[in-house]
Amino acid sequence: MLDRPHPTPSAPSNDPFALAKALSGFHFIGGGYVPARSGRSFAVVNPATGQQVAQAAEGDAADVDAAVRNAAEAQKEWAKLPARKRGALVHQCAALLKDHAEELARLIALETGKALRTESRVEAGVVADIFEFFGGLGSELKGESVPFAPNVLSVTVREPLGVVGAIIPWNVPMLLMALKVAPALVAGNSVVVKSAEEAPLAVLRVCELMNRVLPPGVFNMLSGFGPECGAPLVEHPLVRKLTFTGSVETGKIVAKAAAEKLIPVTLELGGKSPMIVFADCDFDKTVSGALTSMRFTRQGQSCTAASRIYVERPIFDRFVQAMKTAVDAMVMGDPLDEKTDIGTIISTGQFEKVQSFIEEGKATAGATAHVCSAMPKDQALKKGLFLQPVIFTGLDSKSRLVREEIFGPVTVIQPFDEPEAVLAEANDSEYGLAASLWTNNLKVGLDLAHRLEAGLVQINQNLVVQANLSYGGVKSSGLGKEASLEAMLEHFTHKKTIMVNMA
Ligand code: NAI
Ligand code: MG
Repeated sequence: MLDRPHPTPSAPSNDPFALAKALSGFHFIGGGYVPARSGRSFAVVNPATGQQVAQAAEGDAADVDAAVRNAAEAQKEWAKLPARKRGALVHQCAALLKDHAEELARLIALETGKALRTESRVEAGVVADIFEFFGGLGSELKGESVPFAPNVLSVTVREPLGVVGAIIPWNVPMLLMALKVAPALVAGNSVVVKSAEEAPLAVLRVCELMNRVLPPGVFNMLSGFGPECGAPLVEHPLVRKLTFTGSVETGKIVAKAAAEKLIPVTLELGGKSPMIVFADCDFDKTVSGALTSMRFTRQGQSCTAASRIYVERPIFDRFVQAMKTAVDAMVMGDPLDEKTDIGTIISTGQFEKVQSFIEEGKATAGATAHVCSAMPKDQALKKGLFLQPVIFTGLDSKSRLVREEIFGPVTVIQPFDEPEAVLAEANDSEYGLAASLWTNNLKVGLDLAHRLEAGLVQINQNLVVQANLSYGGVKSSGLGKEASLEAMLEHFTHKKTIMVNMA
């Protein structure tokens, strides 16, 4: 489909700026790079400098239609391959992604402002791991035989759903995409992904790399804005399954589109994840656990960020102080610099949103804002979207900072006295994605783990999503699970019953 030479290098590139330029102006449809049919494109900006690094193809309904038709055609043959063969091809993709891990890490750091050492490399590694994990699950796509009646053979088979429409956000774009694309493909579906407008480059490169292995049309990538490109994708009649990660507001739009067509939908939405710290915890481990839980190295731009921390009163002051000291020691700077722990906020829109939360917190009577770390001094970064992490004390559950998802480097620490009271506070939320408990009293810990309203509860750790463990929230945090075998079976196949009367 290319009307000019392949624009991107086949070998891994260590120059993210050159790669960003080469990726400019394209979707990936039917096995090749193609420009937007409208000819329009939009700027991709390096949030550390404010400079434009690429132009992304601006997709609309015509591009969506082309991608979905390609995907629908390709899916027919893809579904005929033995499941283990599909898995083996996805496994091969994982190997290619590993070879390109450093390249992908640099590219994601450039477009998202996430620090290379602490975040972007981690993401690139996990992406390959997710494809490897699902690539091994092909043979699990099996059915059952049901003892219906002596002379009736009754079996179930797992069948793919068809074309999957996947909409992804910008905070961990490659990883969140992998959680959708890997199980969808292994299960025999084809996929059209709409990337986030803030971070379209690394996922486009992933798509191109995987298309070296996969048959053309099985995995397609579009860039563009929500209403112009996302909406026609979710509404397209040939799209038979929707999977979305992003805000609650947009999640509801996607769910309505699914309802209109009566197709299944998986939603991974926001969170306001509580971290509950008991006085008997391992203090130092818990302080460093709080830094990880709050995802400070990702500028708090995580749906599982522990943006409300409850600390048992006897250790409250010491905990706040220790956390401030630890965050102060983190280095904010150029995302591509190996010394950097904390990079930038993704966009000016998000920057302003987070700042308005901080201003509101500071203006609240009785609140204290502990502003941490230091702004980078490098002149080249003076237009960068750097935001000092803030730890608030003196706010209570009435505050918007305790109730709403901030999606920035801001957390609120509150004291508590009784387990029942802190449980009630933790559950008093629209959200229910994740929670963590820090205690050496497993009797109390397990009791609360069972009663916390969340899809994922961890005691004495707070890891991000892991392959093989079901991940997904309750309440407004979403519908359905990702990352596991059960997620692949339940959300990317349907179970057909076949009966044979042999009497
Ligand atoms: P968003 O939910 O609007 O964007 C996510 C994706 O949905 C993007 O690809 C976007 O283009 C697409 N989209 C937007 N409108 C659409 C529509 N009408 N139809 C189809 N697709 C559409 O999130 P946004 O605006 O980037 O961030 C707003 C807030 O959402 C953040 O501050 C954060 O609180 C939350 N968020 C949560 C994420 C998570 O991991 N659960 C990820 C990103 C944002
Ligand atoms: Mg939005």
